[in-house]
Amino acid sequence: MALRERPFHWEFESEPADRGVFRIEGGVPLHGTVRVSGAKNAALKLMAAATLTGERCRFDNVPDIEDVRVMADTLRDLGVVVDHVAPNRYEIASGDVEWLFIPLEAAAKMRASFVLLGPLLSRFGRVIISNPGGDRIGRRPVNLHVDAMRALGARIDYRNGYFFAQAPGRLRGGEVVFPQVTVMGTENALLAAVLAEGHTTIRPAAREPEVDDLIAFLGRMGAHIERSAPEVIEVEGVRRLRGAEHTVIADRIEAGTFVVAAAVTGGQVTVEGAPCDFLGAFLDVLERAGVGVHVAGRDIIVDGTGLHAHAYRGTTFETGPYPGFPTDLQAPTAVLLTQAEGESRVHETIFEDRLEYTAELARMGARIELLDAQHCRIRGPTPLHGAELEVPDLRAGASLILAALAADGRSVIHGAIHVERGYENVERKFLELGARIERSPAANVEATPQPV
Ligand code: EPZ
Repeated sequence: MALRERPFHWEFESEPADRGVFRIEGGVPLHGTVRVSGAKNAALKLMAAATLTGERCRFDNVPDIEDVRVMADTLRDLGVVVDHVAPNRYEIASGDVEWLFIPLEAAAKMRASFVLLGPLLSRFGRVIISNPGGDRIGRRPVNLHVDAMRALGARIDYRNGYFFAQAPGRLRGGEVVFPQVTVMGTENALLAAVLAEGHTTIRPAAREPEVDDLIAFLGRMGAHIERSAPEVIEVEGVRRLRGAEHTVIADRIEAGTFVVAAAVTGGQVTVEGAPCDFLGAFLDVLERAGVGVHVAGRDIIVDGTGLHAHAYRGTTFETGPYPGFPTDLQAPTAVLLTQAEGESRVHETIFEDRLEYTAELARMGARIELLDAQHCRIRGPTPLHGAELEVPDLRAGASLILAALAADGRSVIHGAIHVERGYENVERKFLELGARIERSPAANVEATPQPV
């Protein structure tokens, strides 16, 4: 496959110049109501799905976050028309995709760009896509995505950090069997299978609600998909898909983050528009820990006053694929458990390196001990104090904000951009709940001096 010469106009670096800083004065219980935004991990895949048709697709409730902007830029660079027509509304038309190349810059900026492999390969028969490589939460290989494409008849070579993928003729349906559950692997297989010739079975298919949101949208585009068992998805390929409209589901991880924010500051907050049905495992752990959580329709009413009565109890949990406890809420929940009486244990089963933030919590006074790369022990409650902190990744960043809100004194958190990748209007939402938080570009402010 020959690459055409093309003026390259990728503008951002893998690390943006303004990484941003949050300054937080902690110790204020949060009060009020916060509205949940659309789910990042649904929106990104829906945007990728729009490349399966030349017709215009429209999405509402798209979160205004950095990762969505990166996906929009990645698509525009391919020649796709991406219009941000109104707040939280995007229209995407992929009639003239002229450049089937996803560069390293896109992949390094956001792993989710790899979910373009399936749809581009299936619709256009070829794509060159950069290996996104590992990141700060683990190795995160993409071998299962590649194997899935091969199971559908694709030829894929790997050279110089790029996958050169081709589908001689149309992809053909097949058996995609994963050795373990993979969310984006399932989504990539699905996005490829919808335009493949014949029948595809994907097992074990991820059961995350964001996967089902993608299935719902693909169905509106004219795809034939059935989840015939909880872990089995069957697809009957079609020749063409049409444009469609869709409203992105609410973000269960953002909802959970605000639930913890209320609990860990001892506040009272209503988390409005939450996908409560999808938060079962998380809410169970909070209830076990003694947090007052009450679900009323699409609202979660959090009563964190138990914090002041020292009523939170240590508890143990492990992450798992949905409907298990979400790995993306593991770090926020660990912050809460620093304020619980007794011993808690956390077992991260999805990613190899998702407990690194524990060192930052320890610097704030938490008694949190890494037992190995995937287990930690917390002894509580311990008062947290402000510190100067560095955000290691998106969810750990959100957790440091939670810790800083709960801490005495002032914290300075560098790398706000990592949090803004996945949380819409994060500063404004916390401000509206009464938090003392400020986001600024400059980084030269001292935190509360730390006790030695
Ligand atoms: C998705 O990542 C989410 N990202 C993650 O959210 C989330 O933490 C994760 O699912 C688990 O729920 C998006 O949806 C964009 P996996 P994904 O494939 O799909 C291994 C956030 O903060 N694996 O289900 O990449 C992998 O290393 C992010 O919003 C392979 O070995 O996760 C991991 O150990 C972070 N080979 C496990 O499978 C592969 O080819 C599950 O990962 C693919 C995955």
